[in-house]
Amino acid sequence: MKKLIAGNWKMNGNLGQAEELVSSIAAKIQEQPSIIDSYEFLICPPFLYMPAIKDICAKHGIVFGAQDCSVHEAGAYTGEISAQMIADCGGTYVILGHSERRQYHGETSQLVAQKATAAHGAGLVAVICVGETESDRDAGKENEIVGAQLQASLPEGANAENTVIAYEPVWAIGTGKTASSDDVANMHSFICAQLKEQLADSKNLRILYGGSMKPENAHALLSTPHVDGGLIGGASLKAEQFIGIAVAAEEG
Ligand code: PGA
Repeated sequence: MKKLIAGNWKMNGNLGQAEELVSSIAAKIQEQPSIIDSYEFLICPPFLYMPAIKDICAKHGIVFGAQDCSVHEAGAYTGEISAQMIADCGGTYVILGHSERRQYHGETSQLVAQKATAAHGAGLVAVICVGETESDRDAGKENEIVGAQLQASLPEGANAENTVIAYEPVWAIGTGKTASSDDVANMHSFICAQLKEQLADSKNLRILYGGSMKPENAHALLSTPHVDGGLIGGASLKAEQFIGIAVAAEEG
């Protein structure tokens, strides 16, 4: 199974920078084409820039997707983007339930599950994010919180083909702090066990780690058991770092 290296560009850059960044990522892959034998690269730009990166992604074996989608299929939902629209533009993935959406847009796990159902209906792979806050962890409640998020955020029919889990401790996102390898190993094996209980078939369902991943810590994180890739924010905005994460993981 290839590890998934997913870039979450969030609300950064402009059209010119999006084109430049995807070209630089493609050029880096071309410098060492064997990297795509072991890694799948996913880019999630702002919605508006998806068409601008489509051709170059297709040419270089990079997949792309969005950072959110509507629960609705179509209709009078001003400002919303449907899963089908993402698919129409060539997107194959959608990030759902990122902690920034849970925190700033009040998204609940129930809403995330509805969005995931919409994503699956449009043939998209849902990257469902879960993770505890620092105070949850200080209180020793990380498994309880993540377990409850998983229970409520995964829709019926979730499987290894249509769903990826991203474990992102909230306190590690954009802070430069990362969870220790031991903490990541414990949480990923907890998630793995819960998925086994929760889903009819959870075999091969990928579990990513996210939170301040960069080339310097990529080898340790990506060689941790049950870590099947990374969801990368800040470091995905620089081609050298984004591809460098896979290179560092490979070389150690
Ligand atoms: P970060 O963000 O890599 O900048 O910590 C990760 C994320 O929010 O997905």
